[in-house]
Amino acid sequence: MDLFDSLIDEILRNNEIHRSFLTNSLRQLTEEEKQTLSNYISFFIKDGKSIPYIAECYNTMVKDTVTEQIFFLKNKKYRYSRFSEVESTVYLNDDYMEKYMIGLGVSSFLWPQHLKIHRFFLDKMPSNNPGTYLEIGPGHGFYFMDAMKKTKYSFFEGIDISPKSISMTNGIIDSGLFGKFDNYSVYQADFIQFNPGKTYDAIVMGEVLEHVENPSFFLEKIYSIANKDSFIYITTVINAPAVDHIYLFDSPDSLKELILKAKLSVKEMLLAPANENMSVEKHLEKKLPIVVALILLKS
Ligand SMILES: C[S@@+](CC[C@H](N)C(=O)[O-])C[C@H]1O[C@@H](n2cnc3c(N)ncnc32)[C@H](O)[C@@H]1O
Repeated sequence: MDLFDSLIDEILRNNEIHRSFLTNSLRQLTEEEKQTLSNYISFFIKDGKSIPYIAECYNTMVKDTVTEQIFFLKNKKYRYSRFSEVESTVYLNDDYMEKYMIGLGVSSFLWPQHLKIHRFFLDKMPSNNPGTYLEIGPGHGFYFMDAMKKTKYSFFEGIDISPKSISMTNGIIDSGLFGKFDNYSVYQADFIQFNPGKTYDAIVMGEVLEHVENPSFFLEKIYSIANKDSFIYITTVINAPAVDHIYLFDSPDSLKELILKAKLSVKEMLLAPANENMSVEKHLEKKLPIVVALILLKS
């Protein structure tokens, strides 16, 4: 049995209730995506992790998300709203952060809405633009590594507040399994205090806005470090609780309002609702999760 099948078997061995969801997800993966996920699993194995551990990481993320979903549907708000309430339990907790980031990386393939935004990213990334690339909150590092593989930016910079995210992003690039790279720097920094004194030609920030108390500040800062023609790609979520989501967007309009306030404009928006058989409107009405990917312009 190959690594891909072993991981799926191990996930289901401990999470039978997830079977119909996963069966539907697997139908959507192309052979190439299955191969990429297998390569990703081999990276973890070479890094000393086992299939049962990777499955545990994924199942922990799924179960913790379901717990938060139940809380959210009952209380109509996320459990926490302050960064200080999640800082030590998530970002500075290396063991939990590692599980969370491995689970999230694997979900880029196994959750249809995460798969959609991952495809959108690969499709929209300018492949031949010159200049420098900045990623805020690379986390597991998979998007950062994708950007290094697929684009021609001359230098790649990544900043993350979590020491574990920094070591995971450096680990995936240094592994050599996805290519040989030396034109990058990934280091610990809080974007709130980030003052690079220069602008970037690509700015990518996946799933960070819902993790911060003041997303307007993040968008305004992105405006200040972007060029007129920079490629700006962000993702976030609407009505999608997780252990460390502290800012609640309850509609695409509430998100767009902050984007416009930051003097940015929306070039393209992809809405990926959790239930593919239900409309976006019904999701909003029922407060069900929607993942959003946006390409923004400095207008
Ligand atoms: C949910 S993960 C997203 C990982 C990846 N970008 C993705 O889209 O799957 C959020 C990441 O943002 C980082 N982060 C949160 N607040 C931050 C801040 N103020 N400055 C820099 N990084 C931050 C977290 O440590 C974490 O690694």
